[in-house]
Amino acid sequence: MNKILTSKWTKVCVFLLCLLPFLDLLWRTVYGLLQGLPFDTYLTADPIKFVTHRTGDWTIRFIVITLAITPVRKILKLPQLIRFRRMLGLYAFFYVCLHFCTWMVLDKFFDWSDMWADVHKRPFITIGFTGFVLMIPLAITSTAGWIRRLGGKRWQMLHRLIYAIAIAGVIHYYWLVKSDKHKPLEYAYLVGFLLVLRLGAWLIGRRKPAAVGSAIRTGPMTAETP
Ligand code: HEM
Repeated sequence: MNKILTSKWTKVCVFLLCLLPFLDLLWRTVYGLLQGLPFDTYLTADPIKFVTHRTGDWTIRFIVITLAITPVRKILKLPQLIRFRRMLGLYAFFYVCLHFCTWMVLDKFFDWSDMWADVHKRPFITIGFTGFVLMIPLAITSTAGWIRRLGGKRWQMLHRLIYAIAIAGVIHYYWLVKSDKHKPLEYAYLVGFLLVLRLGAWLIGRRKPAAVGSAIRTGPMTAETP
């Protein structure tokens, strides 16, 4: 298994797999345009809502998958899974950028005052926007160079923000859904479970000072070799 995980081709395959939701959206748009068909042919009757929901769904999925890498690699004893964490974290950022741009360009047409009013007055936008802003420093500092510059401890502290981002994402989802709260609640349980696991690992790590060194390497958007 470790051989598969260390192969450069596995990384390429994971990269392409993560790109599929974006390629699907691109294909639906371009194919529709080339055929001279209205947008709603391939992007449903409400294209803006469709794209917003697709990109929002993939943002929260990638955040949860990124958070799950550390516990899964420890439980399954697959240390090489760490190779994928940075890429998955950056994909979460990529999809949130698409999500945000859909809202800014297609929904609000760059109407800054309307956007500002939304961020101020609609709590689900306020919390989603907070999550997005918090993701920016994590994406910027996800490289090995930034780990060196900040130092392991400070870098790790900063990257713990991923938990706040996950919570913000879940609240955003919970608040925006009006009737069936099933899906946001599923994410809430998942994020809660991952937080409990992290807390457990932290408590155990406090009892074993020797484990501190390895704990530094457990931040979510880590480059492979901090
Ligand atoms: C961590 C950041 C974020 C996450 C994880 C996230 C996630 C989601 C999810 C899962 C949905 C619902 C998808 C569905 O129902 O299938 C959604 C919808 C939406 N999000 Fe976000 N989002 C984030 C940030 C933002 C930001 C920054 C904005 C805009 C400022 C935004 C605006 C919206 C809007 C307008 C909707 C659709 C609401 C509706 O259907 O009425 N989100 N988002």
